[in-house]
Amino acid sequence: MSTITNVSLVRSIPSGAPTVADFKVSSAPTPAKESLRDGEILVRTLYLSCDPYMRGRLSGRKDSYVASFEPGKSLSGGGVGVVEASSSAKFSAGDIVTGADFQWRTVFVAPAAGFIKVPAAGAAEPVNVLGVFGMPSFTAYVGTVVLCKIKAGETILVSAASGAVGQMVVQLAKARGARVIATAGSDDKVQFVKELGADVVFNYKTVGDYEAAIRSAAPGGFQAYFDNVGGEFLDAVLKCISPNGRIAECGMISQYNATSETAYAIRNLSYVITSKLTIHGFIVSDYYAKPAYGEFVQEVSALLKDGKIQYKIDEVVGLENGPQALLDLFEGKNFGKRVVKVTGRSGRL
Ligand SMILES: NC(=O)c1ccc[n+]([C@@H]2O[C@H](COP(=O)([O-])OP(=O)(O)OC[C@H]3O[C@@H](n4cnc5c(N)ncnc54)[C@H](OP(=O)(O)O)[C@@H]3O)[C@@H](O)[C@H]2O)c1
Repeated sequence: MSTITNVSLVRSIPSGAPTVADFKVSSAPTPAKESLRDGEILVRTLYLSCDPYMRGRLSGRKDSYVASFEPGKSLSGGGVGVVEASSSAKFSAGDIVTGADFQWRTVFVAPAAGFIKVPAAGAAEPVNVLGVFGMPSFTAYVGTVVLCKIKAGETILVSAASGAVGQMVVQLAKARGARVIATAGSDDKVQFVKELGADVVFNYKTVGDYEAAIRSAAPGGFQAYFDNVGGEFLDAVLKCISPNGRIAECGMISQYNATSETAYAIRNLSYVITSKLTIHGFIVSDYYAKPAYGEFVQEVSALLKDGKIQYKIDEVVGLENGPQALLDLFEGKNFGKRVVKVTGRSGRL
């Protein structure tokens, strides 16, 4: 009997750092095409996306904008795959599909309604659906362009700049003629972000005093901050950002594994008043139905065509390595957009 690989959650982890023992990698019988009910598709997974928001889904929280994973059930998230069989008029066998609810299974059956077909041009490089055109890349667009409205002559600071979101923030801001100050967590990552075009990049792990490092990187001040990390670095930014500064509050990864003992308490919130700051908290899913999404696809397509944008993918091979691939994000062990390559382009590894 042929089998598939399945990754499920063993237990919810409300706080602290999850470990691979909190996940179970198991085998299950391969679903048969004959088992499809009306409106369902059988999908072979090509790539799965590892994203920091999935930490919240491990927590068992019931009050989040996205449902928690249930212990005993497969994880799910962004993915791209090939339809092997369809009982839906929407798809045919061979179609490349994507969606935000890919099961962490090598092959799975799901209602067709949760998926969209990847156009032929994109299907040639399916990983781009999660990469340069993926959710984190669009997140960068929303924060940098829609909310911070960065423009030539201004300076933007971005943290976690070598990651899935950060690398696009750097390039979208440079494409608008802005000056970019960035941080990253290793010297290799610093070098990469400089090659993307950032004007000043520093390693926040070795720099010591954040406030001094930010002031030295931006002696003339900075008008915008794209926050991916929160915590102590955000606290220093609140003190240093120029009056009327705009902050795209995208993520706070430094706090995702925090406990009540280790959570960082912000001290400089009063600068929001005295420096007249605007903090835009946002969730990218709210923006797919807005004109911004079409504008993003158009701009990134043109930049790609002209060779003016690059996007670093960090691929881990094999679904059985999925739990570690995800947990690496919270230790900075990814370098670029982390994906799990589940099966090859042909559908077989
Ligand atoms: N609001 C939204 O809709 C939305 C959508 C997508 C993503 N996000 C957020 O955007 C942020 C970046 O996501 P991403 O997908 O681009 O991830 P990523 O940057 O590709 O990976 C996470 C990176 O965060 C850094 N990091 C990990 N632990 C850290 C810590 N304790 N302190 C400081 N930095 C730490 C590491 O980079 P270094 O090696 O440089 O430390 C790591 O590589 C996350 O906070 C995520 O939750 C928000």
